[in-house]
Amino acid sequence: MTDHDSLRAAIADAANALRRAHRVVVFTGAGMSADSGIATFRDAMSGLWAQFDPQALATVAGFEADPPLVWGWYESRRQQVMQAQPNAGHLAVAQLQRQRPGWQVVTQNVDDLHERAAAAAGVAAGQAPVPPVHLHGSLFAARCHHCARPFSLPPGLPGAPAAGRRLPPPRCGTCGGPVRPGVVWFGEALPRAAWKQADAAVRACDAMLVVGTSGMVYPAAGLPTLALSLGKPVWVVDPDSAGAGGHPQLRHLQGRAAEVLPLLAAAIERA
Ligand code: OAD
Repeated sequence: MTDHDSLRAAIADAANALRRAHRVVVFTGAGMSADSGIATFRDAMSGLWAQFDPQALATVAGFEADPPLVWGWYESRRQQVMQAQPNAGHLAVAQLQRQRPGWQVVTQNVDDLHERAAAAAGVAAGQAPVPPVHLHGSLFAARCHHCARPFSLPPGLPGAPAAGRRLPPPRCGTCGGPVRPGVVWFGEALPRAAWKQADAAVRACDAMLVVGTSGMVYPAAGLPTLALSLGKPVWVVDPDSAGAGGHPQLRHLQGRAAEVLPLLAAAIERA
């Protein structure tokens, strides 16, 4: 049997089980958006943390030490996301969700590509799928670093400089404090409501589909293990067999999100 045959067989098995499942958590990481041209964090050559210092760019101390460096970096990432499009994997998930209201996306990603794919799938059918739970915040939800009031980012492309160039953050209209990106940084707690919703969805699900996460950042990385510990089947879509932490009970659909998810969706939809 070739690798291609064994992937097809694994997809057929997953599809048989997922077709019968009422509640499915689709848990995604940076690899979900890789096929849209958005860099992951830990890929050896192209990952963001191979090129940039997470201590300087993804901690409160880093922001306080150099706000323009951090704001400029996140604005350039936001600009890149706005210029990207949902890939075939996002669209396959949205399509499945539109037909199956019990499918819930829980994402570590701070982009809006799941939402844009869902809008594309929902508009055609005149209904919008359940919004994704964002465990690590969003590039589109800036807030004041001092008083935490939400800050409305101006519409349109930020016109940000290339990654690594400084851009002074806007000032809060209420207290004058610097505005910070609405993403979760290292050392910060996850948004409480999002975490509660994700934890409850995993506990209630019949099966889990994990896409494009290395499984290295906790507590989010604990969700697939929680599902396994409750006896739920967990499939992983990732080109790397170590994806999602490499637990021996994980069932692998080895490949890229934009390649595997459309095949899986088609197999689920074949009655
Ligand atoms: P990582 O960069 O750690 O892992 C990306 C995963 O995606 C790896 O397992 C890759 O093999 C896989 N991958 C790469 N290309 C893929 C493709 N085309 N299709 C499917 N999978 C692919 O990213 P995360 O696990 O999401 O935190 O990282 C977790 C958190 O660490 C992020 O949310 C971020 C970061 O620091 C915050 O921003 C708070």
